[in-house]
Amino acid sequence: MSVAAEAVSNNAPPIAVEVDHVTKIYPGGVEALNDMTIHFPKGELTSLLGPSGCGKTTLLKIIAGLLEPTAGKVKVNGVDVTGPGKERAFVFQDFALMPWASVLRNAAFGLELQGVNKSERHAIAEKYIDVVGLKGYENLYPHELSGGMRQRVGLARALAVNAEVLLMDEPFSAVDEQTRRKFQEDILEVVDDEQKTFIFVTHSIEEAVYVSQSIALLLPRPSRVSEIIRPDIRRDISPDAIRRDPVYLDIVERIWQGLRTYVE
Ligand SMILES: Nc1ncnc2c1ncn2[C@@H]1O[C@H](COP(=O)(O)OP(=O)(O)O)[C@@H](O)[C@H]1O
Ligand SMILES: [Mg+2]
Repeated sequence: MSVAAEAVSNNAPPIAVEVDHVTKIYPGGVEALNDMTIHFPKGELTSLLGPSGCGKTTLLKIIAGLLEPTAGKVKVNGVDVTGPGKERAFVFQDFALMPWASVLRNAAFGLELQGVNKSERHAIAEKYIDVVGLKGYENLYPHELSGGMRQRVGLARALAVNAEVLLMDEPFSAVDEQTRRKFQEDILEVVDDEQKTFIFVTHSIEEAVYVSQSIALLLPRPSRVSEIIRPDIRRDISPDAIRRDPVYLDIVERIWQGLRTYVE
């Protein structure tokens, strides 16, 4: 069975994003992706997990329409991607916030670009500032926030434009472990509540197992999808209980065994 077919087997939701036979060769000859095919189910969080250099960021940028593939194509809801589109929002690793603007204006910025009037965009932004746990911080500036809080502003901005597909590139890599765990818990709630398709890049196995409905294990040289894993862990128990659950620990260990030979 092909990787794509496997990803959509048993009672699968419809596909939001199709990556079909995508190859990316950078100028200078580095082949970042080699004939990659992978499908992302609607309303789910899929993690791209793999060692650094295996093409995760490249794949995300191609899905975002920020980079053109050398060969192959990407479709969102059946329509070819030819550039950025408002049904997709990229949550950047480095936050990409405007330092001179408040949390509120930063969160509303995507709507400002779309020409939504001020009172409407502020009302929408406030809702998502609340969703990401930043209520009360609307008037602060990025330099007054921790890395984790800045990341939340980036997520609020992406949610506010009501994009259907959220692309997140290692959103938790720049924050401390405590913030990271709290944010992972919040992400689970957002995925539950918002019915959006998340494509989430991480190099943390624990994080991928914790937050994902589906994990695409990527391997380097040549970059490829080695396996799609659906970590069927219990979610009806507390976050701490999940992290101690034998099923959770077993999946983490199994993925580690598959990846360890590729880690330098
Ligand atoms: N702009 C670029 N020009 C040339 N090579 C690049 C560029 N961006 C990434 N690469 C190379 O492509 C490969 C995949 O990179 P990347 O997509 O950033 O991987 P990951 O996000 O998994 O770490 C790496 O070998 C990297 O050095
Ligand atoms: Mg990367």
